[in-house]
Amino acid sequence: MDDLQHLFDNNNRWAERHKQQDPDFFLGLSRQQAPRYLWVGCSDSRVPANEIVGLNPGEIFVHRNVANLVIHTDLNCLSVIQYAVDVLKVGHIIVCGHYGCGGVSSAMSNQELGLIDNWLMDIKDLYHRNRSLVDGQPTETQRLDLLCELNVKTQAANVGHTAIIQNAWRRGQKVTIHGWIYSIQDGLLRDLGVSVSGQGQTSPIYHL
Ligand code: CO
Repeated sequence: MDDLQHLFDNNNRWAERHKQQDPDFFLGLSRQQAPRYLWVGCSDSRVPANEIVGLNPGEIFVHRNVANLVIHTDLNCLSVIQYAVDVLKVGHIIVCGHYGCGGVSSAMSNQELGLIDNWLMDIKDLYHRNRSLVDGQPTETQRLDLLCELNVKTQAANVGHTAIIQNAWRRGQKVTIHGWIYSIQDGLLRDLGVSVSGQGQTSPIYHL
């Protein structure tokens, strides 16, 4: 416990700061949450969702896993998306990857890491499907960064293919899916330009 006391000290100061700015800050939050955004990002400690986009508690709903994957059999991720869309009615879902992602890097190698290799298999498949494009990049860093971008685009598309989103669009609910990537080197986000906001922007095979 003793060696973690600084975390409680930090927490006290943090709560005080918020209460100084707005005495009812936590009281308001305790009554409801009404975030406008869902963030699906990587677990990497250098990519903290709230901080990067400058949002306070209550302003962004967050799901993070290794390599920001949206797998159609992952009940955890799907439950988060369903709650965010059906209950919280977020207007935007942001799938955000980051350059230099360790999960993506592992999937590009032949090293055996154990259980996580199964989790990362979708990225290995993605690499396999885009081998010539990715391997055509001049440096190892560029190859990794391109696969990080392709991964974000794939996962953003996966969100749009879920029955949750297809049904939301069909009943006229406004929700837009975005694919962004973050650079740990400069702290900046980039929009990968794959935003979709309706059924017409997804392949007919996914329509319900
Ligand atoms: Co990562």
